[in-house]
Amino acid sequence: MLTDIVAGAAGNEAANRYGRFMELREAILERLALVRDPELGASIVDLGMVGEVSVDQGVARVAVALTTAACPLRGPIERDVRDAVLGIDGISEVLIDLGVMDPGAKASLMKTARRLAQARAPLTSIPRDAPVIMVASGKGGVGKSSVAANLAVALARLGRHVGVLDADIWGFSLARLLDITGEVQVRGKKMVPLERDVDPGRVSLLSMGHLADERSALMWRGLVVQKAVAQFIEDADWSGIDVMVVDTPPGTGDIVMTLARLLPHMGQIVVTTPSRAAQEVAARSADFASRSNIRLLGVVENMSGFACECGRQHSPLGVGGGEDLARDLGSELLARIPLRADLVGGGDDGQPVALSEGEEGVFRGLARRILDLAPGLAPVGCTARLLDALETAVTHAATYSTP
Ligand SMILES: Nc1ncnc2c1ncn2[C@@H]1O[C@H](COP(=O)(O)OP(=O)(O)O)[C@@H](O)[C@H]1O
Ligand SMILES: [Mg+2]
Repeated sequence: MLTDIVAGAAGNEAANRYGRFMELREAILERLALVRDPELGASIVDLGMVGEVSVDQGVARVAVALTTAACPLRGPIERDVRDAVLGIDGISEVLIDLGVMDPGAKASLMKTARRLAQARAPLTSIPRDAPVIMVASGKGGVGKSSVAANLAVALARLGRHVGVLDADIWGFSLARLLDITGEVQVRGKKMVPLERDVDPGRVSLLSMGHLADERSALMWRGLVVQKAVAQFIEDADWSGIDVMVVDTPPGTGDIVMTLARLLPHMGQIVVTTPSRAAQEVAARSADFASRSNIRLLGVVENMSGFACECGRQHSPLGVGGGEDLARDLGSELLARIPLRADLVGGGDDGQPVALSEGEEGVFRGLARRILDLAPGLAPVGCTARLLDALETAVTHAATYSTP
């Protein structure tokens, strides 16, 4: 007890020992904070990998939890921890208890890691205030590419210069859907997206379809594919765009991970069909989004029921799936796009229906809603805000200073 410790000389000694113990423990934690996980580049303390730390007669005991027991980096981490702690005056030996993180700690580590990776995301030519909207779904064939193409066109018809990144490397389709074909030019080491004027705006597209024929794209694998996506982002000239739409392959594989890493302020819309059975699959990509710090903007239900000329409503693919999913995700249903033959036809001949939609058109409505939601996607960090303030002040001073 503390009262016992502070009573008498023996107590004083114990208090001193206790103080020394705390000092050493503090010093150990300070040193451990400098040890970085080699893969994530972040402090193992920040990543929550350090557990119990104790000292007894110069012997330090440190618990370190790894993401997996077979972590190939356990050797280097162990070595760095030992070196860091042995450098402290008063520590003669270090015992390291290597363990494995529990699922909760692991999930929070992944979140931190992604946030850190996003904070260090490489600079791209995408303007800082241009929102990036990823169109995703758990599975193929639900209409992602059709939604992406029509959303892009609708945004352009609202006067925006829309960058479109077709990140579906194997299943690219946007060159055909938007009828933007040709050869990509390189200017100053950057690929220049191909353009199509959509009055009063414009659509600029980069797609694997511009670089490879379908057969050779199929042979691309893993790393090469990630590199291709990274190049479309980093080595392309996206300057001047107001907003970017990204079409993705189904699911949450490597390509989507790469996008999440390189486009930190990306928001996601999840496309689903009205079938209730499809919800679980769609929910997975939303779940992935939240784990990767990607903001979910909402759900688009595609292939919804339609009113036929006979006056009856037909819903061959079911009813209510989009609403259910939006509710389950605590998000909103952004649009309900009916099954319609002209969507297929428009896709085939490169004339998306959004080109000829009126004021009340479903894609126009979706585009407006996206523009409403998008400003929240590009949060300007403190440093950037400070820089902006400085710049304004300097310009102001330069304008009003007397010569
Ligand atoms: N609302 C719709 N009505 C009718 N057909 C549609 C609709 N949306 C998409 N399609 C068609 O469904 C097929 C799959 O669409 P696509 O956009 O390629 O899906 P994904 O990109 O998710 O694989 C295409 O043939 C497309 O023309
Ligand atoms: Mg597609």
